[in-house]
Amino acid sequence: MKINLKIWRQKNSQTKGGFVDYTLDNVNKDMSFLEMLDVLNLKLTKKGERPVEFDHDCREGICGQCGMIINGIAHGPLKNTTTCQLHMRSFKDGDTIYIEPFEAAAFPIIRDLKVDRSSLDHIIQAGGYVSVNTGQAPEANSIPTSHDEAEAAFDAAACIGCGACVVTCKNYSAALFTSAKISHLELLPQGRKETSTRVVNMVNQMEIEGFGHCTNTEACQVECPQDISVLNIARMNFEYNKAKILQRKSSSK
Ligand code: FES
Repeated sequence: MKINLKIWRQKNSQTKGGFVDYTLDNVNKDMSFLEMLDVLNLKLTKKGERPVEFDHDCREGICGQCGMIINGIAHGPLKNTTTCQLHMRSFKDGDTIYIEPFEAAAFPIIRDLKVDRSSLDHIIQAGGYVSVNTGQAPEANSIPTSHDEAEAAFDAAACIGCGACVVTCKNYSAALFTSAKISHLELLPQGRKETSTRVVNMVNQMEIEGFGHCTNTEACQVECPQDISVLNIARMNFEYNKAKILQRKSSSK
C-alpha cells in the first residue's frame, strides 16, 4: 500500500510545531501502526534526517505508552485498541493519515509525538498507601468479596493510564483515569480503609496538575482503549462528597 503521512513535528515545548508530509510506498497491511513508523524512521535515518520520536514500550496493549491521535481519534479508528495494536489493514491504499501527539496543558510536548504524562503519576502518588498486612498470605476465604465487586474492581484496574480519556475530553479532564484508580482500590475490602483520604487527595491533585473538570460528555469512555466505564466517575464523585461531608462534620465538633 502507498500511505501519505502528515506527522506533527516539534523540537520541544518551547518551539512551534507543524505537520510534515511523508510518503511510504510498499506498506504491508499486516504491519502494526508502530512498525509502519519504524519503517519511516529507518528511511529518515538513512537519509541523515532526525527520526520521528514517539513513546512505546510493551507493544502489546498493556503499558499505555503509545498514545497518539490518529486522524483526530485517540489511538485511531479501531474501538478498544491501542495504537500499538492497530494494524495497517485498518487503512486503504492511498490513504492520508494525520498523526498528532496526546497534547494537553497537563501533558506538555517533549518532542514530536512524545508528551510528558508524569502528571498522571502524581495523581497516583497523591493516593498514598494501602493498608495490607505483610507476612504470610492470608487464608483466601478470610476476606469475603462478592463476585460482582471483584469483577468491577478488575474492570477499573484494567486502566493502562495512556491518557486517551484526557485528550478526548473537551475539558482535558482526567476524571476517568483518576476514578478508575480510586475504584479498583475502593471496591475491595483491602483498599477501602483509606478511601476518604485517598479520594480527596487524588481529586485535589488532579486540579493541581491542571486537568479540567468533568462535564459528563462521556467522550472519555468512547475512546478509552480499555472500555473503562464512566460509572467510576460517579463512584468517585459520591466518595469525594461523602469524604468532604465527614471532614466538615468532624471539624465542626
Ligand atoms: S506500547 Fe504498550 S500499550 Fe502500546
